[in-house]
Amino acid sequence: MREKLDRLAAASVAAEQGGGAERLAAQHAKGKLSARERLDVLLDEGSFTELDRFVTSRSLGEGEAPIYGDGVVTGYGRIDGRLVYVFSQDFTVFGGSLSEAHAGKICKVMDLAMRNGAPVIGLNDSGGARIQEGVVSLGGYADIFLRNTMASGVIPQISAILGPCAGGAVYSPAITDFIYMVRKTSYMFVTGPNVVKTVTHEDVTMEQLGGADTHASTSGVAHFAHDSELESLHAIRQLFRFIPSNNVDDAPRGAGTDPATRRDEALIDLVPDHPNQPYDMRDILRRVVDDGDFYEVQPDYAANILVGFAHLGGQSVGIVANQPAVLAGVLDIDASLKAARFVRFCDCFNIPIITFEDVPGFLPGVAQEHGGIIKHGAKLLYAYCEATVPKLTVITRKAYGGAYDVMSSKHIRGDMNLAWPTAEIAVMGAKGAVDILYRKDIASADDPAAAMDARVAEYTEKFANPYNAAARGYVDDVIDPRDTRPRLIDALETLRGKRDRNPPRKHGNLPL
Ligand code: HXC
Repeated sequence: MREKLDRLAAASVAAEQGGGAERLAAQHAKGKLSARERLDVLLDEGSFTELDRFVTSRSLGEGEAPIYGDGVVTGYGRIDGRLVYVFSQDFTVFGGSLSEAHAGKICKVMDLAMRNGAPVIGLNDSGGARIQEGVVSLGGYADIFLRNTMASGVIPQISAILGPCAGGAVYSPAITDFIYMVRKTSYMFVTGPNVVKTVTHEDVTMEQLGGADTHASTSGVAHFAHDSELESLHAIRQLFRFIPSNNVDDAPRGAGTDPATRRDEALIDLVPDHPNQPYDMRDILRRVVDDGDFYEVQPDYAANILVGFAHLGGQSVGIVANQPAVLAGVLDIDASLKAARFVRFCDCFNIPIITFEDVPGFLPGVAQEHGGIIKHGAKLLYAYCEATVPKLTVITRKAYGGAYDVMSSKHIRGDMNLAWPTAEIAVMGAKGAVDILYRKDIASADDPAAAMDARVAEYTEKFANPYNAAARGYVDDVIDPRDTRPRLIDALETLRGKRDRNPPRKHGNLPL
């Protein structure tokens, strides 16, 4: 027995070695942690259990010593005591490239995660398909893509990109729910700068083409960009304060002590009197949610809409909010895509959606129309319509036009729709409306400017308020802004037993 234990000990040491000291030093020199160091940061201390550490590559040449693990460390551990499955690619072994055995290990933890109702976190750092294995490694990718798709909406899937992620390999993270990237050491692209140069003659660096900032602010592929791996891994741990382990379990309750009955005096002064004056919607959100703690998702992309998580009375909620401080909070293509995907995540995982609305409408313009604002805006509309989780809406100021309907209106199954007295629920703003209705009258008036002002005042008085909507029950109440937090928490409480279903069907046909 002792001899056998010695053999196990020796094999264990070999399994932990990865690609050896020299390659590990090169990894550190790039400012990157090793696959195992990353897991130490990500998971609760001492909670990691490794699986398949003795799996070896199937593509070794004659006489080559087996390399244990085959370029990926897999297993399970805990975040705040909750079970998660993980895989962490080891760049020191064949550049973390994906072989048949490597893919098999990832598929095994994905299958276990699905079976046991726990999230999967993938730490990606890979040169792509293992060149020596050819089509077998392509098959391995496809095995993973299928599992990503089957797991979507069943368990949360989180990707950290901590090195190269190129070619078809990008499509696994792309299907997952949240992507975290690190500036200067991680990149994602379908084809790299050299191919781009050959095909389109564009000169571009890796960072410009597919770095963290590019994807977090321009393409919207990534949800978070951080300066270091430590920050990224800590941010993933923070996400777990808000998300459930699967589509059946509840999200964890917040640990805060903020009283549910807390009114906030400052809320009456945050919306400017003039309808065109900007303000930062985050100031309102932070005053309403528990302890001002708002975990913002995709903060650098489509900044005219805010999405993120918070707790309200201890319950995890997803927040979608127009941001009047950027482009007046208008809905454009990017904002629609960002919010639609977030709404669908919340709906998959039974997280109530709270919408804060101040929206002048959809963005006009040739670029938006030709870019498909019709089909992209429809995605957000569709996402809100199909969502069956509790949906609460607070209209702080503008709710104009189609955007009024889209932003979780009563008509599309908003459960509790509240308006502040400053709300303007109308087909459009006063100036635009008067222009269309009275252009000829105003042009022929003795004093056109005075005539315009009079019409605008008349329209504002008649339509730019919440009471026409309230008279029809399109908003459930007009409230004192200071009461927003207690009213939302109370409404959430009433919706604890909410049961709503969409008609049985294979699946709807989301306007893609
Ligand atoms: C096998 C690979 C490898 C790969 C890297 N290595 N990529 N081995 N298959 N795909 C090995 C290298 O031989 C080297 O081994 C070690 O990993 C580190 O690689 P370096 O090139 O020294 O590192 P670096 O300079 O940091 O460059 C990293 C890199 C580069 C940019 C990722 O290695 C690279 O361009 N690799 C090929 C990328 C690629 O074209 N992959 C296929 C994409 S297509 P030693 O022994 O020297 O340490 C694809 C299809 C997926 O992935 C399809 C899904 C549908």
